[in-house]
Amino acid sequence: MEKILVIGAAGQIGSELTMEIRNTYGNSNVYATDINTPPQDILDSGPFQILDVKDEKGVAEFIQKHKITQVYQLAAILSGNAEKIPVKAWDFNMKSLLFLLELAKEVKLNKIFWPSSIAVFGPTSPREDTPQYCTTEPNTVYGISKLAGERWAEYYYNRYGIDTRSLRYPGLISYKTEAGGGTTDYAVEIYYEAIKQAKYECFLSAETSLPMMFMQDAIKATVDLMEAPSSSLSVRSSYNVAGFSINPSQFAAEIKNHIPDFEISFKPDFRQKIADSWPASIDDSVARRDWNLNYKYDLPTMTEVMLREVGKKLANS
Ligand code: NAD
Ligand code: SER
Repeated sequence: MEKILVIGAAGQIGSELTMEIRNTYGNSNVYATDINTPPQDILDSGPFQILDVKDEKGVAEFIQKHKITQVYQLAAILSGNAEKIPVKAWDFNMKSLLFLLELAKEVKLNKIFWPSSIAVFGPTSPREDTPQYCTTEPNTVYGISKLAGERWAEYYYNRYGIDTRSLRYPGLISYKTEAGGGTTDYAVEIYYEAIKQAKYECFLSAETSLPMMFMQDAIKATVDLMEAPSSSLSVRSSYNVAGFSINPSQFAAEIKNHIPDFEISFKPDFRQKIADSWPASIDDSVARRDWNLNYKYDLPTMTEVMLREVGKKLANS
């Protein structure tokens, strides 16, 4: 019987991933934790506790007390926020992973999931169809911390046999919980503003292409990776996942198909430089080969769901 701990369960990914793994492993076997209160369905369906990942003793006691066998460590400081507090972001993003890897040497954890990002790539990486293996010289503190985290995850797998698994998520788009301070947040905000006021001022330029993915596909990819037999996984740093590549103008054109008077304007800020250093598109062939990564959503199908669900949410708020 797996007992699963989700750290960061109230966030954009955690609020959806927690519910998905509760469906699979049973509500009472999935312990949601965060420093913030999660959505009501998480509170209603299973255990939740306020727990700070910086409280290493508290997390270790929690893992031992509940006989946890798998951990999803989702708490992090994302790219935009990290640039405002570089040293703190490095410290947080690194310690919250390293301490867990160290702990896994003492208490038996069957698997650890820790997400990486397209931010591990930098200006010297190929920008189109960025391969699984290529030059990785990130120039953001977030990217540096993700790249170092990947190296540590692989190191603990090779040296201590700890079953670490990871995805390099692209920008994730979802309606349940708002995005948490990243460079791709515009792709969520645009739907809210389209419905609220039929206009959006984008903090990236019109032609800035980035890889994006609908949350349903990201959750499925995460579960598929975690369910894959260990022997089929050739990557213990982090797998490329592509989604689809899209720029703000293309988002706006698709939204206009539903809201014809929608208007977008552009006022790039400090996040433009971050986006310019990231890939425009990703080669995810290694994940497709190893564990059959696949997707259901593209821009039109995702936009339909986003406008419908964000519309319902705003109407009820
Ligand atoms: P988020 O900011 O929405 O959620 C993070 C959660 O962690 C929040 O609920 C926050 O309250 C919680 N948290 C913060 N400090 C904490 C602490 N000290 N102790 C416990 N919990 C704490 O982030 P997200 O978008 O859900 O991202 C989750 C992970 O996925 C991160 O590692 C992020 O880097 C990675 N990722 C996200 C995206 C994306 O587009 N969302 C893309 C690539 C990688
Ligand atoms: N969406 C994330 C960010 O912009 C990518 O890791 O920070």
